[in-house]
Amino acid sequence: MGTLHAWHDTWANVDGTSEPGFFLRFLDMTRGALMQALRADPEGFRQAHGLEQGYRVLDVGCGLGHYSRWLAEIVGAEGRVVGLDNSRLMLEEAQRREEGRSPWLEFVQGDAHWLPFEDATFDVSYANLLLEHLEDPRRALAEMLRVTRPGGTVIVIDNDFENPEMMQTLTPVALRMLQVLRRIFRHGSLARQLPGLFSELGLEEVRVEEVRNAFKKMNPMVEDLFLGVVDRAVAEGQVTPAEGAAHMASMLEHEAEGRFHVAWSTLKVRGRKKAA
Ligand SMILES: C[S@@+](CC[C@H](N)C(=O)[O-])C[C@H]1O[C@@H](n2cnc3c(N)ncnc32)[C@H](O)[C@@H]1O
Repeated sequence: MGTLHAWHDTWANVDGTSEPGFFLRFLDMTRGALMQALRADPEGFRQAHGLEQGYRVLDVGCGLGHYSRWLAEIVGAEGRVVGLDNSRLMLEEAQRREEGRSPWLEFVQGDAHWLPFEDATFDVSYANLLLEHLEDPRRALAEMLRVTRPGGTVIVIDNDFENPEMMQTLTPVALRMLQVLRRIFRHGSLARQLPGLFSELGLEEVRVEEVRNAFKKMNPMVEDLFLGVVDRAVAEGQVTPAEGAAHMASMLEHEAEGRFHVAWSTLKVRGRKKAA
């Protein structure tokens, strides 16, 4: 995948990168299996996200609208879903896929730091894997809170790179790689700070759910992440190019031998805006 990686600096400005198509493909590669799992249990998703038919829902940083379309199915024709993204290319593709199937779903270009909506417009505001890439996640969260009605729900999901694991954890090179992985996103530890931020901003009934993502095989997302880690570790002088290449090779060897293991957590934080 070359030297273009799905990190915060590129996610923050997809249209300005040398190859925006990479990010569209990346989302399709990584969201397919996740959406399948969600579709297997719509009621579980509805309850976990405080959704009801007829609700107005905002999906901030919606990308290609994988979640927006799913949210639109759940709230139904009496509801309204807005997918917002700052990438025109993402939104054009999201719109093309939608093809007017759910007229209650619309896509809007905008910046998560300055949401173009009146106060209290939505019942639920949702952001999946967005805040960790932003310049000012606190501001974006405050904006989500502002546009949510009193008594409504705010949900933010981000990666937690504080406790990653991999098979080779005990080698000195692997330990240095894990250190780089912790720092590779602008806010790789944001997920842990979210419950505190929710409370500071006045959200109530704050709940945290941890999902451990464990990979037993190399896939395009894990490969991109670790190629990126190697590039960054070499650039920082943490490892030599030969050590980096050997590390990638050893991951593939582990895969061939059936003992591949890479894992990190994703935290879903949910809170309720104080009733008026
Ligand atoms: C990692 S992707 C997640 C996409 C989607 N939430 C999903 O899970 O499929 C991050 C998305 O946030 C968008 N984005 C980045 N910075 C943004 C900003 N300041 N305002 C709005 N969207 C932004 C990117 O264009 C990209 O589509």
